[in-house]
This record gives sequence, C-alpha cells and structure tokens, in this order.
Amino acid sequence: MSMLKIGVLASGRGSNFQSIIDEIESQHLDAEIVLLITDNPSAFAIERAKKHGVHYLIMRPKEFHSKDEFFIKTAEELKERHVELVVLAGFMRIVRKPLIDAFPNRIMNIHPALLPAFPGLHGQRQALEYGAKISGCTVHFVDEGMDTGPIIIQAAVPIFQDDTEETLSERILKYEHKIYPEAIRLFSEERIEVKGRMVSIKGDTFSEAFIVNPAIKKNPE
Ligand code: GAR
Repeated sequence: MSMLKIGVLASGRGSNFQSIIDEIESQHLDAEIVLLITDNPSAFAIERAKKHGVHYLIMRPKEFHSKDEFFIKTAEELKERHVELVVLAGFMRIVRKPLIDAFPNRIMNIHPALLPAFPGLHGQRQALEYGAKISGCTVHFVDEGMDTGPIIIQAAVPIFQDDTEETLSERILKYEHKIYPEAIRLFSEERIEVKGRMVSIKGDTFSEAFIVNPAIKKNPE
C-alpha cells in the first residue's frame, strides 16, 4: 500500500495536527502530510508546519466572493497535491458542499464531546454545564451538518465535580491525540467501511473503535 497523502485544515493551536506529525515521524503512521491549509494567518499550526517542513497555505475566506468559492479553491488545492484524506484539526468552520462532494467519506473531524451530544462550539463547556458525568471525544466523517457525520472512534473520559472547562478540555485533549492518529491509521490500512452512517472496522478484534479512560472503570464488573 502506498503512503497515504493527507491534507490538514486547521484554524488555531494545532495540537491535533502535531499529534499526527508525531505519529508519522515516529513511524507509527504510514502517511505524509502534503499540505496544511489555514484560514487564520496567526494560527500556531503554521509554526508547526514550518518546523516540520509541511507545505502550508493561508487562505482567508473573506478574500473570496462566497463561502462556496472558498471551499472550491480549497478542494482544488488539495486535489492538486493528490490528497487522499482531508483532516480537520481544530478547523472552526462548517465545511460546505463543494469540498464534501470532492472528498466523499474522505474528510475526518475531531470533536471534543461524545457525539451526538454537545455538537458545535465549546463541546467541553456544554458537557460541564449540562451536568454530564462522562464526556470524551469523537472522530467522525464530515457531512454537511454540524458534527453529524458517521462516527469512527470515540474515547470516554470522566467529568469530576471540581472540573473546570480547562481541566476537562485538557483531559479530553489527551485522548484526542490518541484517537485521531488511530482513525487515520485505520483509514490508511483501508480498514474503514462506511454504510450509510454505520462505520465498521475490518479485522477489529475487541474494539479499536472506542477507548475508555481507566478512571471510569472503578467497578467494571
Ligand atoms: C480541539 O479540542 C478540537 O477537538 C476542537 O478544537 C480544538 C483544537 O485544538 N474542535 C472543535 O471544537 C471543532 N468543533 P488544536 O488546534 O490544538 O488541535
């Protein structure tokens, strides 16, 4: 199997982008990030791209006539570099049809909650304010809705009584950095099968599709 070509879209800090770079550099993931596109000229993700020799583009949506045009151009740039999988890593925009149609079931997103709970912005804050006891993160394929596409992998983490948005976000982020590269690895091994909104993983023995923080299993039996 040839090396998977990945395009990353990020708007900010880029720690998920970094976790993918790290997995590739440590040879746990047979892939190559051929392009980073950011909509934010001050995104820290750009520094990470520079440090690791990833080609990057800054594309500001307001410089386009419409949102659709922005996504048409984005798709063109990705296609030009023969991208096979588009990875949204803290990309804070709703992806529109022209990009989704160009990469059907080939765009992944990570969300900091257990979907379908708490979609949209501030998934961690929403879970806290709702009084949930367990939250986590979800890797899913992107469709035209807001965090509604087929779910690939989830990880659960506990919410403690004294948690703040910061402490919970930090706990969830550690698992984001585990499950995102894992989902990409499964994709690169051609083990992900999508039927409607059902995702199955070929050759999955117990389950590679979920990770439960051991702290949750106080009394597992
Ligand atoms: C991550 O927590 C990611 O799950 C979240 O933004 C953060 C980006 O961090 N994404 C969303 O909320 C998308 N709806 P990063 O830039 O350090 O990867």
